[in-house]
Amino acid sequence: MTRKVRVGLLGCGVVGTGIVRLLHDNARTIEGRLGAPIEIVGIAVRDLSKPRDAIVSAPLVTEDAMSVATHPDVDVVVEVMGGLHPAGELVKAALDLGKHVVTANKALLAEEGDALLETAEQKKVDLYFEAAVAGGIPIIRVLREGLASDRIVALRGIVNGTSNYVLSRMQHEGLDFADVLKDAQRLGYAEADPTLDVGGGDAAHKLAILATLAYGARVHPREILKEGIDTVGAVDMRYAERFGFVIKPLAIARPVPWGREEALDLRVHPALVSKSSVLASIGGALNAVFVEGAMLGPCLMSGPGAGALPTAMSVVSDIVDVGRNMLVDSHARVPTRAFRGESLQTMRVRPSAEHRCRWYLRFSVADQAGVLARIAGVLGGFDVSIEQMVQEGGRGGSSVPATLVMLTHEAREGDVREALSEIARLAYCHEAPRALRVEEDA
Ligand code: NAP
Ligand code: HSE
Repeated sequence: MTRKVRVGLLGCGVVGTGIVRLLHDNARTIEGRLGAPIEIVGIAVRDLSKPRDAIVSAPLVTEDAMSVATHPDVDVVVEVMGGLHPAGELVKAALDLGKHVVTANKALLAEEGDALLETAEQKKVDLYFEAAVAGGIPIIRVLREGLASDRIVALRGIVNGTSNYVLSRMQHEGLDFADVLKDAQRLGYAEADPTLDVGGGDAAHKLAILATLAYGARVHPREILKEGIDTVGAVDMRYAERFGFVIKPLAIARPVPWGREEALDLRVHPALVSKSSVLASIGGALNAVFVEGAMLGPCLMSGPGAGALPTAMSVVSDIVDVGRNMLVDSHARVPTRAFRGESLQTMRVRPSAEHRCRWYLRFSVADQAGVLARIAGVLGGFDVSIEQMVQEGGRGGSSVPATLVMLTHEAREGDVREALSEIARLAYCHEAPRALRVEEDA
């Protein structure tokens, strides 16, 4: 090998342009740390006619992505185009040719990571993905290396920058969901399909990756309970605040007793967290991952979870790592998924109906005698007990609906769901009840 690490870049959008910029601006530091320069030998894009940042060298840019992924001069293929196709085929082609791969593509890893990582193991090359989870926070390295001697008792965090940004601005500025989402897209936080962000799909992809690294379990995103922030209204922010909470987009993975075995509790959803909790203070596009080790105890990492340069920083640090391995001819010393392939297990996932927590419930109902008693009766019938309640709006018997907001004592999720579906069928319910979980340990 020449003492150079030669990179083929697949994609030159928000993250790809950040990588080109960072490699230029930090070239001396990187060479000092790696012991060799990193050189880009080809850049693949979808549309050659699109205007690019002047830092991107035009002669390197092509629409023929396969020629970059398989180029004989390329040592490391860096995939930052996103999506499953053609990204998956390109990564596979590169691995098959014995090239190392660095990717920021959590969707690809969560859906097809096992097969790609097995190919990488067979071919004795590295497949790294630090930027795929929590952007600039080096959480993958921490789980893989820093915590290699500990058992993880719980992992919870805010891993979608767009959702956190949207909820934070709705909370502080009372803005509409749609306007804030547009800003998140303009700032380069959102996915090409922003429903992945606000619907919880992106966080589920990331949680599947984190759960594998934390627990040595093969987890597919479809096993994760997933609810987006798109059903949270400004009104919910206000009531949550009255009860002493803020609403945050959480991702949670923890082992729980289930029958005679252990199962994983895996959830992605907005939740009420106490105003004084650590995660309540993580605002804007910041991400945070809170890991609790059996020996270590609690440990919080927070930082930018999205955006061109923080994400590029993680990608290029992976290239440096791969380059270091190349220079000493040592690959796979540290298992990519934190556990050796043969130790990875299939763990059961606890049904979400068994989860117990306090609940925030909001109803829009006719303001008539007996309505509150009927709702409380249905809840009571399912063993859901009310802790606090406020009623607003309505004008006694008129057509103006009243808003009823309740905070319950701890209740089983399956029971809450059944009670709410019965209440939703009552004639005086103006819209489907809204329900949000309270996360006590945030
Ligand atoms: P982006 O701005 O949409 O850029 C995608 C790039 O890939 C563009 O340059 C596009 O070409 C190119 N591309 C797309 N399909 C292609 C195809 N079929 N053939 C050749 N080139 C193709 O996306 P991004 O925000 O940089 O995100 C890239 C990846 O990083 C995604 O997997 C995303 O989930 C991940 N990620 C993003 C962030 C973030 O903050 N943005 C953070 C962490 C991880 P054109 O320029 O010609 O359209
Ligand atoms: N769309 C993602 C987010 C980018 O908002 O967190 C970082 O993975």
